[in-house]
Amino acid sequence: MTQSPEVRPYRDTFAAYWHPVAYAHELGTAPLPARLLGTELVLWRTASGVAATQRYCPHRGADLCSGALTPEGLRCAFHGWTYARSGACIRIPSQPQSPIPERARLVSYLAAERYGLIWVCLSPEPVAPLPSWPELEDTSSVATVALPRLDWDTSAGRMLEIVLDVAHLSFVHEGTFGNPEQPEVPAYDVERREQGLSARIVYPALSPGIGGAPPRVDRTTLTYDVTFPFAVRLSFKPTLFYAHTVYAVASPGSEEKMQCFYFASYHPRIRNFADMFVKSESAILEQDRRIAEGQRPRAHPLDFSGEVPVRADRLPLEYRRALVALRLGRPPDAPGFE
Ligand code: FES
Ligand SMILES: [Fe+2]
Repeated sequence: MTQSPEVRPYRDTFAAYWHPVAYAHELGTAPLPARLLGTELVLWRTASGVAATQRYCPHRGADLCSGALTPEGLRCAFHGWTYARSGACIRIPSQPQSPIPERARLVSYLAAERYGLIWVCLSPEPVAPLPSWPELEDTSSVATVALPRLDWDTSAGRMLEIVLDVAHLSFVHEGTFGNPEQPEVPAYDVERREQGLSARIVYPALSPGIGGAPPRVDRTTLTYDVTFPFAVRLSFKPTLFYAHTVYAVASPGSEEKMQCFYFASYHPRIRNFADMFVKSESAILEQDRRIAEGQRPRAHPLDFSGEVPVRADRLPLEYRRALVALRLGRPPDAPGFE
């Protein structure tokens, strides 16, 4: 399949979905910049929830990230024009008696705070809800820990593919948890759903030996649960280490650039989990980053013709098939079209 007129532009396809643009803890009492699908945004808090609007002031182009939050809304640092969450300008201090021009308004987008993330949808009508991760709502039974944002020169789709890739574990992750003695990927099933995919494998991870002891094989059950377009929940059930669940959500700054919000949930009684997770996962993801940033093309391919997929690539392959369907305006679980 070559690129044909029926392929929808990248931005148009994914603007209709929710994407995370910041961790909730990053958004305090100051406005925060964000970038989504080439759109520059400013995020800010209001009494009725998070606002996401265009970043530059329509008056004379000042950066609203330098502005201040007032009880009325976001006040531009240049001349003090103030904007409500809807984007409407409600105050022009230099001429308070005159009517406010109609064009004095910010483009405003849908914004929501959930799972410790700030999510934005650039379209007024999202085509899908946020991922459903109800276990994260019960903060008395789970604790969470987040890595700093991953800021990689690759596409969101390429990032998801590496998270879903089973065959790379024994190669790329040698020295962290990969088992170079066991590179073969047994056949596994992938369940296709309207909103995502799921698969389960058992991986003979190598758990590092403690105090000079040799590494031990830790047969770990990995359950992958994808929500289109760029979110995956990955549950780890090791035999030697703690069960925990990883959430990775890639956010497309553009077609070739993504930031990934990557965090884990675990039982709150496990002491030191957060420190262990941040340390080991940062090393693991650095191994992935080197591979992902080196892949070409950086953009997520629209077909399989430039690569040689094999059976062991089943999960990333099914994922790409679904993403190509979205670009073609088809349901992601549509049968074969490659
Ligand atoms: S540029 Fe923002 S108020 Fe003038
Ligand atoms: Fe990896």
